[in-house]
Amino acid sequence: MGSGADWPQPGPGAEPLALFFGGCCVDRILIRGGRPLHGDIPIRGAKNAGLPLMTAGLLTDERLVLSNVPLLADLDTMGDLLAQHGIAVERVGNEGRVLSLGGRITSTLAPYDIVRKMRASILVLGPLLARCREAKVSLPGGCAIGARPVDLHLKGLEQMGAEIRLEGGYVHAAVPQGLRGADILFPFVSVGATENLLMAASLAQGRTVLSNAAREPEISDLADCLVAMGARIEGIGTDQLTIEGVAALHGAEHPIVPDRIETGTYACAAGIAGGEVRLLGARLDHMAALAVALAEAGVEVSEVEGGLAVRRLNGLHGTDMKTEPYPGFPTDMQAQFMSLMCVAEGAAMITETIFENRFMHAPELSRMGARINVHGSSAIVRGVRSLQGAPVMATDLRASVSLVLAGLAARGETMVNRVYHLDRGYEAVERKLGACGADIERV
Ligand code: EPZ
Repeated sequence: MGSGADWPQPGPGAEPLALFFGGCCVDRILIRGGRPLHGDIPIRGAKNAGLPLMTAGLLTDERLVLSNVPLLADLDTMGDLLAQHGIAVERVGNEGRVLSLGGRITSTLAPYDIVRKMRASILVLGPLLARCREAKVSLPGGCAIGARPVDLHLKGLEQMGAEIRLEGGYVHAAVPQGLRGADILFPFVSVGATENLLMAASLAQGRTVLSNAAREPEISDLADCLVAMGARIEGIGTDQLTIEGVAALHGAEHPIVPDRIETGTYACAAGIAGGEVRLLGARLDHMAALAVALAEAGVEVSEVEGGLAVRRLNGLHGTDMKTEPYPGFPTDMQAQFMSLMCVAEGAAMITETIFENRFMHAPELSRMGARINVHGSSAIVRGVRSLQGAPVMATDLRASVSLVLAGLAARGETMVNRVYHLDRGYEAVERKLGACGADIERV
């Protein structure tokens, strides 16, 4: 799957894929607020499951077929990276929502110019070591929300016998005798480190135990796919994963789990704008603490035929929240929840415990009239009767969408700039909200 140009053109009626190639950096989204939402929103496969699932394509020469694939720029970038390793990624099926991955690894180099575009590229390291016993992967570097080190990934691979050297901004890894199982205890929960080591352990010699492992539904989805490929994994869904390495993995077909962050984002949209929406394909059991916080805030989430129904009951109430690893309140929903709290009655204390710099949406929301005081890793939000539209700038994926949500409730026009952040993680957000009555357009 190369850049957009060389993908098979979509069949009749398929959604134009080009729309989802990260837009272009001057795209902006204009919202005229004040309209309640009514209608259905399709929830697609999770970005943060699709990315590690694509790297699982490196674990076998046989064909891995992923369905319920979201049309997102980040997955295009992962496709470019896998192509660089020799794995052909083709969109098949109508709408291009099925990815077929196949081929033999021809290069173990993950170059900086691809990795810098998407940090999840580091997830090729474990699979490359497991299959080729060596890899040269660019360090992903930080991003707007934090330094994002990968020390837990590297320490775990060293425990499995890899020799790791950092030089020239690259991880140089080698394990001539092949990876060996190990008992790995994470000092704190890391989604990416759990994923990298889970994949590496699947083909290591012997048993690996990952303790204090991340339990996000995207991890369980990856583990389920690896089991379908022949891996032997116990403890899926818990914080202790036990993996018996096997000699080889075979191909499989796997539907990507629905995106719980997309689900939560549109639930917040309904809470902020008012009205009632149905989130088709969404799963309540993956919303965990988020559904509880939304209920306390006055947003009802209920299971209906085909997904979830979300509506604002009466007024919104300020609700304290703290981000935590799953099943706690997800950090990827912190910005969206802050937008909701901006127009709730009363105050809310929001504490971010996962990333060191994830309040960059706060000053932008303040420009729309929100009353937010940030003190270190906590922010006090005092609800206001309504926000005023304004030109605002996005700095990361979830901050971007929190500004769109605020625009739905604001009086007047809100122009959200730099929406390429948005396209990395949200498919056609203006079309999905527009179909429910929002006055929103990409300009
Ligand atoms: C994944 O990032 C997600 N990305 C993030 O979503 C999400 O916010 C994060 O998990 C937490 O849930 C993908 O799945 C592609 P971590 P990841 O390793 O794996 C520190 C989005 O918006 N840490 O769980 O990078 C790290 O700096 C993105 O979709 C180390 O110190 O997150 C962070 O403070 C944003 N050393 C904390 O741990 C390490 O080796 C949690 O990071 C690894 C992580």
